[in-house]
Amino acid sequence: MHTVVLASQKGGSGKTTLSGHLAVEAERGGSGPVALIDTDPQGSLAAWWNVRESKTPVFVKVESMELADALSELRSAGIRLAIVDTPPAITGAISKVVSCAHLVVVPTRPGPHDLRAVGATVDIAESLEKPLVFVVNAATARARITGDAAIALSQHGTVAPVTLHHRVDYAASMVDGRTVGEVVANSKSAQEIKSLWSYLAERLQKIPDGTDHAMEVRGRRRPRPSRDRERREKSKRALKKATYER
Ligand SMILES: Nc1ncnc2c1ncn2[C@@H]1O[C@H](COP(=O)(O)OP(=O)(O)OP(=O)(O)O)[C@@H](O)[C@H]1O
Ligand SMILES: [Mg+2]
Repeated sequence: MHTVVLASQKGGSGKTTLSGHLAVEAERGGSGPVALIDTDPQGSLAAWWNVRESKTPVFVKVESMELADALSELRSAGIRLAIVDTPPAITGAISKVVSCAHLVVVPTRPGPHDLRAVGATVDIAESLEKPLVFVVNAATARARITGDAAIALSQHGTVAPVTLHHRVDYAASMVDGRTVGEVVANSKSAQEIKSLWSYLAERLQKIPDGTDHAMEVRGRRRPRPSRDRERREKSKRALKKATYER
């Protein structure tokens, strides 16, 4: 199971929007079962999920300090990808969350305040030796500052080759618990999310998640359909217990 943490010290950069959108896209693209985890006391992701009709991705609300235990339960329950939303802060609790990540995604608006704030998040990821990807979010098409922001960010780390533009449907789709692709499947924003997830999935494939690595080392990586079925059943049972009450 891979864990992707969305983090940035700056409020409003798009952590919650991207968490929900990437989780739904990953599930749709076959990387599931996906668990969405909200460690933000503001609970915006929980509020979104609570008005959502679809039962996937599953949702878990966890205190930052208890994330590691929650992740190991989700792993045994058969979850293949965990996406974790965090509050806009730089605290010990954020470091604790980042320490559980296989990949840290840092959404950043192309503006001076957001750009100045990235240093602190980068420091946490670097000190914990976690790979990090910036995503330029809410960009204005053809604005010079968008390109400038990507250049500035590239001095600190990798910048995703997909920019998310400022589009009203990112906000509007979440009002009733959906995502842009669930409202209009082929919209420009839906395509942006699809391309972004496809890039991140490729990155994740190159990052061992522990279990894969152990199995490869022992040379026992073979498909086992009956065991997979058992695992899915176990996962369903455990998730019924673990998911948030609507
Ligand atoms: N690409 C975008 N286009 C238009 N609106 C966006 C975009 N990304 C995010 N928003 C809107 O910006 C606001 C802030 O986004 P979001 O809540 O995802 O940020 P956040 O980083 O989670 O904030 P916080 O730090 O407070 O948790 C929301 O109203 C959201 O709908
Ligand atoms: Mg948020």
